[in-house]
Amino acid sequence: MADPRPFHWEFVPQPVTREVFRVTGGAALHGRVRVAGAKNAALKMLAAACLTGERCRFTNVPEIEDVRVMAETLRDLGVVVDHPEPNTYEVSAGDVDWLFVPLEAAAKMRASFMLLGPLLTRFGEVIISNPGGDRIGRRPVDLHVDAMRALGADIDYRYGYYYAKAPGRLRGAEIRFPFVTVMGTENAMLAATLADGHTVIRPAAQEPEIDDLVTFLQAMGADVERTFPDTIEVHGKKRLRGADHAVVPDRIEAGTFAVAAAMTGGRITLEAARCDHLDALVQVLGRMGIAVDCGVDTLAVDATTVGPGAYAPIDIETAPYPGLATDLQPPTTVLLTQARGRSTVHEAIFEDRLEWMSELRKMGARIELPDPHHAVIDGPAKLRGAEVEISDLRAGASLILAALAARGTSTIHGGHHVRRGYENIEAKFLDLGARIERVQEGDPGTPA
Ligand code: UD1
Repeated sequence: MADPRPFHWEFVPQPVTREVFRVTGGAALHGRVRVAGAKNAALKMLAAACLTGERCRFTNVPEIEDVRVMAETLRDLGVVVDHPEPNTYEVSAGDVDWLFVPLEAAAKMRASFMLLGPLLTRFGEVIISNPGGDRIGRRPVDLHVDAMRALGADIDYRYGYYYAKAPGRLRGAEIRFPFVTVMGTENAMLAATLADGHTVIRPAAQEPEIDDLVTFLQAMGADVERTFPDTIEVHGKKRLRGADHAVVPDRIEAGTFAVAAAMTGGRITLEAARCDHLDALVQVLGRMGIAVDCGVDTLAVDATTVGPGAYAPIDIETAPYPGLATDLQPPTTVLLTQARGRSTVHEAIFEDRLEWMSELRKMGARIELPDPHHAVIDGPAKLRGAEVEISDLRAGASLILAALAARGTSTIHGGHHVRRGYENIEAKFLDLGARIERVQEGDPGTPA
């Protein structure tokens, strides 16, 4: 393969349109909202579709910026990606002619690194940029690279790019991670589906999105299964076929709306929600005294009796699934500002994932950060509208939650971060009775 060009001529980096949310708080949110498909499943499925030359069809794909970036990145490789109707994508990786994932894609989205395993195992080589993504810590990819090497790949790192080659086919191997990694597990699993022989991945992350990916891979003809809660085993196949799959509902979006009901003293029923995937959050809400009702595919949160300001304070700690998701730490922290007394947060997964709380303080939250992994929150806080800046996806959604409960109007800059992972968030909040608008930065009134 030729040396990588600085960027592919067909890859047109989109300028980031900075957006602002304007939120006037105080309205209790009521109604029903349908949860979209999971970002963290859909992105991996689109990457996994590169394991075959046949067409794959995905439904319930969220209409979010990260999916758009992944589709664009695949097209740049020569993959045909159709978007025949909202929430449906069709992917045919029959003619991949450019095994290069550029910095322009990687800088926008860490999940671009999910192309390493599929491209390497199917085509025997790929040059892929070190990924970017949210600003929540260093977030290295050494475990992904180690896993590929365990499968027999040669990988060099030069000038920000990984040059990966598989002499012949990758070979099945025992992959032992020093700790749980979600995308590391997924990359190893995808690479192993076309490797020669048997692969055991341990400890394998247990997130529901990974099991959704396993289901899709099985539909493609892959011999892959979770044999123990923390073990995934793969027997490599020579080729896989195309398949159809409906993406699992997004438990992080569901959790965000559950907290919205609690923050505003409202009542929200989430449709297409998987309560069984939200066990840790449901327990947190229960311990705080918030009524949660789990149905077959619904989750209702009723905060009309015990309301914000009257919840019980608690101590929370993030953990790999089935523990409390680190992506639900920011919304849960916002909720803890409405407890009567002192709560604590231990962010155990990422460093630097508490920095956004300085913005929450501007809205009146009383928060101390004794070290980069711990926060102490004194409630209840009377939140007030403020001008704040979003630094990453989940913190962004959480500042909106705070603004919905605050007295007065908040101006939330950096709204484009939220578009990366939430489909139509302002439309959903508007339907529930919120006062929220999204406008372009610097423009007083044009809707974004
Ligand atoms: C995924 C999710 C992200 C979620 C996170 C943890 C996607 C697209 N993103 O991210 O939303 O917050 O899981 O649930 O699915 N680590 C290393 N070396 C590596 C890989 C990870 O040191 O090679 C560290 C990370 O810095 C972190 C920890 O391992 O401290 C766990 O990260 P990991 O589970 O890999 O997160 P992601 O898969 O990147």
